[in-house]
Amino acid sequence: MKDAFGLPQSLLVLGGTSEIALATVRRLVARRTRTVWLAGRPSPALDTAAEQLRGLGAEVRTVAFDALDPESHEAALGKVFAEGDIDLVLLAFGILGDQAHDEREPLNAVRVAQTNYTGAVSAGLVAARSLQAQGHGSLVVLSSVAGERARRANFIYGSSKAGLDAFAQGLGDALHGTGVHVMVVRPGFVRSRMTEGLAEAPLATTPEAVATAIELGLRRRSETVWVPGALRVVMSALRHLPRTVFRRLPV
Ligand SMILES: NC(=O)c1ccc[n+]([C@@H]2O[C@H](COP(=O)([O-])OP(=O)(O)OC[C@H]3O[C@@H](n4cnc5c(N)ncnc54)[C@H](OP(=O)(O)O)[C@@H]3O)[C@@H](O)[C@H]2O)c1
Repeated sequence: MKDAFGLPQSLLVLGGTSEIALATVRRLVARRTRTVWLAGRPSPALDTAAEQLRGLGAEVRTVAFDALDPESHEAALGKVFAEGDIDLVLLAFGILGDQAHDEREPLNAVRVAQTNYTGAVSAGLVAARSLQAQGHGSLVVLSSVAGERARRANFIYGSSKAGLDAFAQGLGDALHGTGVHVMVVRPGFVRSRMTEGLAEAPLATTPEAVATAIELGLRRRSETVWVPGALRVVMSALRHLPRTVFRRLPV
């Protein structure tokens, strides 16, 4: 069960090697999280992540999970929930893709959409059902400011995040009053493996800053979290710019 401050004792990460997710788990383990499940594609990186968290005192297990194989999601998540209650599910998997390349190779673009959107629809619904069955818990979904308004430079990724964001908001409304809380997290540019080698966007942040914002959001039982918080205002302005102006911005 969560403690009086809304922080979890047990959690499941979908996308177990995500730098943002691991920064969040480290922060929560330093509070009171004891049981951690890392779900991801089996790899040395997944095993290393588990080992490092064990070194911090958590009981950590890994489970095979592939966002691109929705038919396996019930079994993968079922295995975790069968072992005991999960206070927090962190949906952290995602790929950025390569916009210019993916525009020329539509099947690559489809892979971005299937990972970020379809995979999340499936895993999100399976997780939500299990959380609802136990009657409590939070589902935290890593969306992105990229979904707030599609940009020329990354509209394939952006549109997949727009779909994910709308899905997660609707799911949050569907679960309102059931004891299950859905929190949509919208980071801007985060310095992680995903953005390595890319030119930094204004207001760039770190996985640790996202982790801090997630912890605060859990304590407050927030529905939406922007990281950094100033992006809420910036994106609200950008969202309302006329297309002709927005198109000319160097974003
Ligand atoms: N970095 C940013 O600037 C930024 C900004 C806003 C939102 N986000 C979102 O935050 C989340 C985490 O990003 P991050 O920065 O922590 O990036 P990251 O370190 O690259 O993590 C991405 C994660 O997605 C997993 N993944 C990719 N395809 C998968 C699949 N088919 N099945 C299962 N797992 C899969 C990766 O696992 P493998 O180890 O198997 O590849 C990895 O665990 C993503 O959803 C991302 O879109 C990131």
